[in-house]
Amino acid sequence: MDRIAITGGAQLHGTIPVSGAKNSAIKLMAASLLTDEPLRLTNMPRLADTRFLGKLLTRLGVQVTESDGPAGQQTVLHAPEITSGFAPYDLVRQMRASFNVLGPLVARSGQAKVSLPGGCTIGARPVDLHLQALEALGAKIDLHEGYVYAQAPRGLKGAEIIFPIVSVGATEHAMLAAVLADGVTVIHNAACEPELADLQDCLNAMGAKVEGAGTPTIAITGVARLKGATHAVIPDRIEMGTYAVAAAMAGGEVRLTNARPGLIDALLDKLKEAGAGVEPTADGVIIRRNGHRLDAVDVETAPFPGFATDLQAQFMALMTTAKGESRIRETIFENRFMHAPELMRLGADISVSGGEARVRGVEQLEGAEVMATDLRASVSLVIAGLVARGETTVSRIYHLDRGFERLEEKLGACGAQVRRIKGDGEAEL
Ligand code: EPZ
Repeated sequence: MDRIAITGGAQLHGTIPVSGAKNSAIKLMAASLLTDEPLRLTNMPRLADTRFLGKLLTRLGVQVTESDGPAGQQTVLHAPEITSGFAPYDLVRQMRASFNVLGPLVARSGQAKVSLPGGCTIGARPVDLHLQALEALGAKIDLHEGYVYAQAPRGLKGAEIIFPIVSVGATEHAMLAAVLADGVTVIHNAACEPELADLQDCLNAMGAKVEGAGTPTIAITGVARLKGATHAVIPDRIEMGTYAVAAAMAGGEVRLTNARPGLIDALLDKLKEAGAGVEPTADGVIIRRNGHRLDAVDVETAPFPGFATDLQAQFMALMTTAKGESRIRETIFENRFMHAPELMRLGADISVSGGEARVRGVEQLEGAEVMATDLRASVSLVIAGLVARGETTVSRIYHLDRGFERLEEKLGACGAQVRRIKGDGEAEL
């Protein structure tokens, strides 16, 4: 398996274009199941996760065509008919968001059998809210041998859906199912993440009637059929935030482009509080740090517009060399500190107790061999490696490849010493 080696010490100077958002792209791809006409997605990231989902959608009857046009990377998804309503364990297990094909399949063809995704390293991550939403829309749900069987032979019906807690995936799933339901659906306590508004825009371009995404109440008036459309995927706010943290960590000056300022205000406020230079631009942000050490600041993760859980690991890496002690509270997932022991292998001083980590900044990290445990954890190790003395090698970077497009190239273009070491076939335990 591949590894990434980073030689620490180089400042970053240059421009990094932000790719399309993984967490939006994979829900937009699922929307292609809702119509027999082609859905053209532009600004598409090419990632392991989009490939996984493409593979599953192909099994269900979607023709998936990737190309690089003048407007950049695009994917056309065309499902003239649903040839199978079965999403097997081996495909869903590889990527939890694959579970979101259930709603569109039931909405379009009245039935589906989709594997339960199971837990993952960052937490149990149940799908009870997804199933509650589909039941509210009139689907009959049965669970057998690890699979969800959902049926609505006479179609879904509009309903009130009241989520007891905020869930990005369940809100998106409810939207994807309700657009073809008969009547009006109102989702209360909806997630407000920007990816929801992106999904709304795409569905509306396909002829759906959705309003309110980006607020806690989303109203959907069901339509009988959807049509093809062209839609540009929103910029990846987590990738943008990750490189903003990388620039603040390594020092220098990095301009992030092809993005939207406003998507990561909670992070940018914390970077400013820590002493980094932050200058929003028309299509992104410039991050600067020249020599001085950053101050420790506390963060607590929260649903959007709060501090994103998907940026918590990166920020922890940043705090490992800040002046003073930082308290980092994780409130979204119960087990999302697995990067802490790996950062400690690089010399970080961190103690974790329940949902809180205390990071006491050290003057210097030392390069070491470390292991990625999940997507965002893996990039936090790369960020720490940018300033660690000597070489840091990160193994299990298949996690990284799920969500960061051409990471070595993007960081390398700004002067980082980052290289991929191709696997020698040796099994990793
Ligand atoms: C999405 O996951 C993202 N993934 C995650 O990014 C992100 O961390 C998360 O939202 C929060 O922003 C994708 O979009 C593919 P949730 P999701 O449902 O939708 C609990 C990354 O690194 N919950 O908002 O799965 C759940 O356990 C990934 O790119 C239930 O209890 O997150 C969690 O504690 C990691 N029952 C909380 O809600 C349910 O049915 C929020 O999870 C669903 C969720």
